Amino acid sequence: MAKHKIKVGIIGGSGLSDPDNLIFKYKSEIPQEDARNEFGLPSSALHEGTIAGLDVVLLSRHGPGHKITPTSVNYRANIESLRLAGCTHILASTACGSLSESISRGQLVIPDSFIDRTIHRKATFYDGTSQNYPGVCHVPMEPAFDPRTSRVLEDAAAKIGLPVRRGGTIVSIEGPRFSSKAESNMFRQWGGHLINMTTCPEVILAKEAGMLYAAVAIATDYDCWRDATDTVCAADVLTVFKKNVGKVTQLLVQAVELLAQENWDDHIDSLKNVLKTNNVSSH
Ligand code: ADE
Repeated sequence: MAKHKIKVGIIGGSGLSDPDNLIFKYKSEIPQEDARNEFGLPSSALHEGTIAGLDVVLLSRHGPGHKITPTSVNYRANIESLRLAGCTHILASTACGSLSESISRGQLVIPDSFIDRTIHRKATFYDGTSQNYPGVCHVPMEPAFDPRTSRVLEDAAAKIGLPVRRGGTIVSIEGPRFSSKAESNMFRQWGGHLINMTTCPEVILAKEAGMLYAAVAIATDYDCWRDATDTVCAADVLTVFKKNVGKVTQLLVQAVELLAQENWDDHIDSLKNVLKTNNVSSH
């Protein structure tokens, strides 16, 4: 019998805001106002349901109708609402620009690192204001994404015959503007493979909150570095994402089924231990 009852939070990105897009039938809704926590109001209501007998909860990152800008998303309230709902894992989807010739439009990538270029966001729970996050915690960002949960996403893709690229660095920019050509080329030189506006601080906060976070990124455009291709525009991002959303939902559902088959006790405890040993106030 597992010590930790696992539950999966699914954060739907651009084009995946509507719970009806997910193949699971949600049983109940925690209204947005009821999901308010000490960090504020999450982006949407929480839709709870099951996939293969495992409890899942869906949160829409940009809210119904995609009204919340990447800068205005309350990432702390979102992550805290999933923690308070009992989530042990988070699977996130994200639309990204490709910074690499080898990542084409529509391709799925399971990222393994990030470069944080955001500047206007609260990126830690450990700011001394919360009793739930006491002390000063310097959480290590290697690994940034949980490798075991990421591997489950890769296995799920293999199981349903969906090609995915394993590994990749996401550059997270503040937005809402897209990058200049000079910036885009600089990010390529830095080793970025993908570019978006939301992975940071979401992945950071999930780790601070002790949840195992992995993402599936879908390349929707080539940003603006590639001479042979039109410059990114927001409408195209949504069109390409919507065209591929079926692949993403299939992958998420299959991944939940695989997550349910494993015992995560040691892995969850080891993340909690990382947080403890890196909290300098507890020494
Ligand atoms: N999201 C999707 N495409 C993007 C791009 N090119 N830059 C930033 N965020 C994005």
